[in-house]
Amino acid sequence: MNIKKVVFPVAGLGSRFLPATKAIPKEMLPIIDKPLIQYAVEEAIDAGFDELIFITGDTKRAITEHFDFKPDLNISNLTQDKKNFLSEMHRIIPDHISCKYIIQKEPLGLGHAILQAKEAVGGDPFAVVLADDLIDAKQGALKQMLDHYKDEDSSIVSVQKIQKSESVNYGIIECNKGSESLVKITNIVEKPTPENAPSNFGVVGRYIFCNKIFSLLEKISVGVGNEIQLTDAIKLLLETNPIFGYEFNGTRYDCGTKLGFIKANISYAFKNTEYAKELSGFIKNLS
Ligand code: UTP
Repeated sequence: MNIKKVVFPVAGLGSRFLPATKAIPKEMLPIIDKPLIQYAVEEAIDAGFDELIFITGDTKRAITEHFDFKPDLNISNLTQDKKNFLSEMHRIIPDHISCKYIIQKEPLGLGHAILQAKEAVGGDPFAVVLADDLIDAKQGALKQMLDHYKDEDSSIVSVQKIQKSESVNYGIIECNKGSESLVKITNIVEKPTPENAPSNFGVVGRYIFCNKIFSLLEKISVGVGNEIQLTDAIKLLLETNPIFGYEFNGTRYDCGTKLGFIKANISYAFKNTEYAKELSGFIKNLS
């Protein structure tokens, strides 16, 4: 299957990161020196996607500017070092990749954000990536999912084993036993209490959807948190189409929370040999 389109919903309020997210989307917060959204875009491009569709907020334009920005390399006083840094910026989005920016006028929920991409996606299956779920993996999570994708009537959502006590933060799937990493989903519940959680598989922000999800997103009304919930559309889709849960290889950081964001920054800093030694001494002293 040739899936080329990927949707990045980046129009959430990011209220857990206020005031940092007053003027910029949380997906622009950096892990070391790179904004979350750029990690997500690189993962999608590495997986072979070449049409990037961003669902942006009405007021925060930083993401559009980030990807459109091509610095002028002819500024007269640039040192070679600076030229090298700036020329790297030209390579963020290779020429064969197209970017579309669609405005979600009101933050009515993730389901509503995805629905804004309906026209741009057309009749094809497509992927969705939530950049605030940063996944550190040898092979990108999206590429792993594509490798398990079956046909254009089926869908895959990425899942991760979670502590049951954390179920209130996730969509939780109920499933039949499948292969080691791929299970067939039979039900999904949005943010259940631990007692009501049907499994310890929580959904995280990578999806491949069959096109039918759009007509179901149009049908549903507001759900949990007064938002149009993607989970409700997935539940409806289960009535007619197969949906699989894929447990990816890799470490996921929930960068929608402050603690997850801090952990991601520390972990990525330790990957850099230049910082690792000094950091470990620094952290030992702190603790
Ligand atoms: P979250 O549930 O994390 O919500 O969104 P949020 O608004 O971004 O953050 P908080 O809860 O206020 O701190 C999950 C993903 O869905 C996008 C977000 O940008 C994020 O990638 N989203 C959410 C939208 O694009 N539009 C929405 O209306 C809601």
